[in-house]
Amino acid sequence: MKDETIYHELVEGLTPYGQTHLLRHWRQLTPDEQNTLKEQIQSLDFDLVTRLNSARQAQADTTVTEQDVAGPSAYHLNNDSGKVRLELAQAVGDAALRAGVAGVIIVAGGQGTRLGFPHPKGMYPIGPVSRAPLFQILIEKVVALSRIYNVRIPVLLMTSPATHEETLTFFSDTNRFGLPPEDLIVFRQGVMPAVDAETGKVLLAKNGELSLSPDGHGGLLEALQKQGALEQMRAAGIEHFFYMQVDNPLVPVLHPAFLGYHILSNSEMSTLVTRKVAATDRLGNIVQNGDQLRVIEYSDLPEELADKRHEDGSLVLWAGSLGVHLFATSFLEESAEQELHLPYHYALKKVPYIEDRGKLIEPLSPNAVKFERFIFDLLPLARRAIVVEVDPQQAFAPLKNPPGAATDSPESVENQMVSLFRKWLQDAGARVNPKAVVEISPLYAIDSDQLDGKISPGTQVSADTYFV
Ligand code: UD1
Repeated sequence: MKDETIYHELVEGLTPYGQTHLLRHWRQLTPDEQNTLKEQIQSLDFDLVTRLNSARQAQADTTVTEQDVAGPSAYHLNNDSGKVRLELAQAVGDAALRAGVAGVIIVAGGQGTRLGFPHPKGMYPIGPVSRAPLFQILIEKVVALSRIYNVRIPVLLMTSPATHEETLTFFSDTNRFGLPPEDLIVFRQGVMPAVDAETGKVLLAKNGELSLSPDGHGGLLEALQKQGALEQMRAAGIEHFFYMQVDNPLVPVLHPAFLGYHILSNSEMSTLVTRKVAATDRLGNIVQNGDQLRVIEYSDLPEELADKRHEDGSLVLWAGSLGVHLFATSFLEESAEQELHLPYHYALKKVPYIEDRGKLIEPLSPNAVKFERFIFDLLPLARRAIVVEVDPQQAFAPLKNPPGAATDSPESVENQMVSLFRKWLQDAGARVNPKAVVEISPLYAIDSDQLDGKISPGTQVSADTYFV
């Protein structure tokens, strides 16, 4: 009888939204399954889903035009043309790191669908010799910096329901790769449902389970707000956060010059870019839009505009996003508190679902819409924002695709790591057998300067070697 009451309450709640189909299989569910479904339904914001459905149908044509956007101006992390400025930035960043005012955010809530790895992406073994997972490489960079500067560097790691438990177990089994337990805060982002692209009805993944996925890395703001971590961080004196994705083992974590440019410019949000090689590179584009900076995903940029060139043949919209930012803690806090409205983006996807008679349908073409928010939509909202360019060979090797793929595959990432480490060793005076696979642990050196005094000129590296 109690079940019937719950059932009728749920029907009543769903009726105004036209979503009662979610209870179609209720009577075949076990009590546990009924409970899960009930909790999922009760925690979903159906007002929001309805608003997003109608906004999608009424969505105006938001084509970007040439008049709207230009390539941004940028500082550079590696070249010497602005040497004085670069050295100053380096010194200012060094001082901030020594003062212990910087923390790190890692977003690792994505499902890594393209990679096809049945675990959180951060667990993917990518070290060319060590097979160290991505998480290990990223965390060891933080541990290395905290040793160099003799400070604590807190890490806020965002997971999602899909990756949370496994990530927690992984970090506990690995002793957090040396990061003290109090310096790792792991918290979960929210979820959004997939809806049928034509009817806007929420899809069922199983008879008793909604089709839910992470709400995009923009979900960071709400998750941080719920967690209360920012307040705690500000109280601990953390003034800046280095934000990174989980997929790039070459990411220059808290690069002193990046931090220095950010501080010298009094920037609320600074973003790292690389010069695009082809107009069609699958990167977000950082563009200047009036006096604001913003990001246009490659999928939203019309081809003619992406391919527009200066007289010398270079791309006008040249700045590809690394998905790496620096935030002023105060800006993040303000954005989270005021729930600054990050827009939802709509993605048309193939999503398997249970149809009315209980059969699982595996669609052959995109059938569903997913709603996601992106953290980079904070860029135009920042009162001051800057762009910093970095050479891709030194800082960008994202793992996106499975083995054998043409780009951003484990092989291409490993090759790029080995090339960079080989160059560091050669610059330090070592002779490296071109066939030797070399890898340098962040705990051994986080950049080429750190090899000074560790590798004597003339050192022969003839076999595969992990410097650790
Ligand atoms: C992303 C950027 C793109 C940038 C490129 C650089 C977006 C939409 N696009 O592309 O502008 O040029 O990286 O490599 O971000 N994540 C969450 N929760 C989510 C979704 C994603 O934490 O709900 C995390 C992932 O775990 C990952 C990161 O966000 O660490 C990026 O997500 P991904 O889907 O891989 O973005 P890309 O399309 O590769």
